[in-house]
Parts: sequence; structure tokens; C-alpha cells
Amino acid sequence: MQNKREDIINLYAGHVSPGKVDTYRKYDITLVPAARGGCYICDMNGRKFINCHCNGGVFNLGHRNERIIRAVAEAMKEYDIGNHHLISKPKAECASLLASTMPKGLTQVVFGVSGGEAIDLAIKLARGVTGRSGIISAKGGYHGHTGFALATGDAKFNDKFGPMPPGFSQVVFNDIGAMEKAVTRDTAAVILETIPATMGIVLPDKKYFLEVKNICKKHGALLILDEVQTGFGRTGTMWGFEHFNVVPDIVVLGKGMSGGIYPISATVYHERYADFFRKDPFVHISTFGGSEIGCFAAMETIKISKSEKFLSNVRTMGNYFKKEFTRLGKQYPNIGLNVRGIGLMMGMEFKDEMTALFILKLLFDEGVYLVYSGNDPRVLQFLPPLVVTMPIAKKIIKAVHTAFAKMG
Ligand SMILES: Cc1ncc(COP(=O)(O)O)c(C=O)c1O
Repeated sequence: MQNKREDIINLYAGHVSPGKVDTYRKYDITLVPAARGGCYICDMNGRKFINCHCNGGVFNLGHRNERIIRAVAEAMKEYDIGNHHLISKPKAECASLLASTMPKGLTQVVFGVSGGEAIDLAIKLARGVTGRSGIISAKGGYHGHTGFALATGDAKFNDKFGPMPPGFSQVVFNDIGAMEKAVTRDTAAVILETIPATMGIVLPDKKYFLEVKNICKKHGALLILDEVQTGFGRTGTMWGFEHFNVVPDIVVLGKGMSGGIYPISATVYHERYADFFRKDPFVHISTFGGSEIGCFAAMETIKISKSEKFLSNVRTMGNYFKKEFTRLGKQYPNIGLNVRGIGLMMGMEFKDEMTALFILKLLFDEGVYLVYSGNDPRVLQFLPPLVVTMPIAKKIIKAVHTAFAKMG
């Protein structure tokens, strides 16, 4: 098996990504998933890991959730990807179910395949309905690696591929004064993650989004909230923006929407903009967007995620982890830990990048897999499956304790 594993790694390096293989080998954190289920992924070499990143929420329901697999398997008996030119029962029903979980007025749904595609559509829609080009995003934020989504991001991701389309600018997140200065009559939209993950799981002030929405309203701009990571129960409510008393004009969904089984994303927007696509329904199309099989995965995911029992587990476990991490942080003050987050969207910020990287490696050695925030490597992102149970949580805390003790 070990030889087979090496062969796979070499094949991957040869044909997919030599750079990733080099990096993982350098830090001795190579993981080649084989069997997976619930909170666990098992390397080809037999080592078991608790997945505490979940690919930013893709595996909110754990790996290979039985209900999602059953829904997709049933759908496969009758359906296929579907035809985006035609009217579709699964698409209609999925959109209606999704809309029923949203605040009043957010009734319109365009399906996509990936988060980046759904972001692009949100920006196209904002530009289309306002007739303006200005798009304001947050420094250090992340909305995807393609098209307009890439243009919202930091230079380090896009300056090799320039020039980016005009009209894009960035402001400091959670600085309402900066936003006030940036939004003008040329602004089509402000786009923000509800809790920016790549920035380092940064929590905005309670009133921030409401104030941003008011600034947008004053200037006739739209507020787009990216819920690709915060959606589907990650923060203990169905949508992350529910914590901030704000209703965005457009919401972008991805990752967790697929139940970890079949890719699907969505842009949900207010019905006051519905005329835009009514006039020209073919101005945006996506061949695979909202595949009918994907719609079944999404409908089952929505049904699971909106249940109060499910959401209450997220809140209970989130409180437990926060309490335990804080306690361990106090016990080992040398690591300079600052814990933050809502529900099970948490960031562990350490005193410096090196400490965070060592802790990541020590946790890996203890069988806990997580990653750091791309734009702030001092922060480890802690996003376990939302179905995590107390016995598994205790194993995670034990591993974290061991890692902190070795560093502290
Ligand atoms: C907040 C956020 N928005 C958008 C995206 C882009 O999604 P995708 O990779 O599916 O295009 C990501 C991906 O990591 C993300 O974290």
C-alpha cells in the first residue's frame, strides 16, 4: 500500500500539481485521502484524520452523508444534468425551497457550478441593474479565482494575470469611514464575505453590515454578501447575515450547498431586480449550473441544515470549542492565542506565523487536519463538520492540548 501511495503522489506531481506535492513533502504533511465518512478522512496509509477544515464548508454535513447520497442515488434513476434551456422541475423546486429560507423579497435564484461563477453573476447583475461599473470589496477578502471574482481579490492573486477589468477597488474591512469615502454614484455594488475566512476569520462589528447597507442605499448601490463559507448553518443560523440584522440585495452560495457530493452554487437576489433577466433571459447562461442531480443534493442539504436541532448542535459545539480553546490558550500563554468566531466558523490566531504553522503540523501529527488563512497565516481556520459530536470534539480538544503543550 505504501508503494501504491508513493505512486499516486508521484503521478499527482507529474500530472496535476508538482507544487502542492513539494509543499506537503517539505512540511511532512502529505495526506492522500482514501476512505472517508462523517468527520473522518483516512489516508491511503491507514492514518485517520478528523477533518477540521471541511474545505471551507463543503463537508458541513460530514463526508458522504447518507441522506445526500440517497437523494442523489434516487435522482440518478430518473434524472441527469438537465438542459439549461428548458423548464426544470428539480430546479424550480430547489429554488423555491431555497427562497423559503431567505428573508422576504430574496426570491430569485440563478444556479451555478462553483462559488466563483455565482460571484461573477452577482457582479454582472449589480452592474446590469445599476448601469454602473464600480465594485468595492475588502482588502484581504476572497471571492474566487476566476473572472470578476478574481478582480475583487488581492493583487497577490491577480497581478500575474493583469490587467484586471476596470472599476474594482478595495477598502479595509470593518472600517465604516473607509466605506463611506469609497461608495459613490459610480458604485454598482459592495461585495463582502459575511465573515471573511481567507482574511483570518475576522468578525465585523455588529452594526457594520447595516451601516454598509445604508451607505449603499444612499448612493443607489447594491450590497452583495458572499455566504459561500458562512451559509447553510455554519454560524449556528441558516445564514451568517442573520447575526447582523441586515438583508443583502444579493446573496452568493456555494461550498456547503452540494452536501459534499455534487457541485452546485447559487446567486439569490431580490425580486425588485427580476426584470433584468425577464427582459433578456439568455444574457447569462451556465450549461452545468443547477444540474438537476445537484438540485436534489441541494434540496436535501437545505432540509437538513435549516432544522433547529441541527443548528442548535452548531451553537452548542461552537460554544464548547470556544470555551475549551480559550482555557487552553490561558494555560499556554506563550503561544499568544486569540480565539474568535460564531458557531463553528472559528479562527485561532497565534502570536506569529511560525507558531501557527508549528501548531498546524503538530495537529496534523495528532490526526487533526486544518489549514491556515491564506491572507493571514497567523490564523488557523477551525471549521469542523457541523454534525460533530461531543466524543469527537473531546478527541479534537485532546489533540489541541497536546499540540499547545509541545509549543508552550
Ligand atoms: C468566501 C468564498 N467565496 C467564493 C469562493 C469561490 O468558490 P469556488 O472555489 O467554488 O469558485 C470561495 C472559495 O474558497 C470562498 O471561500
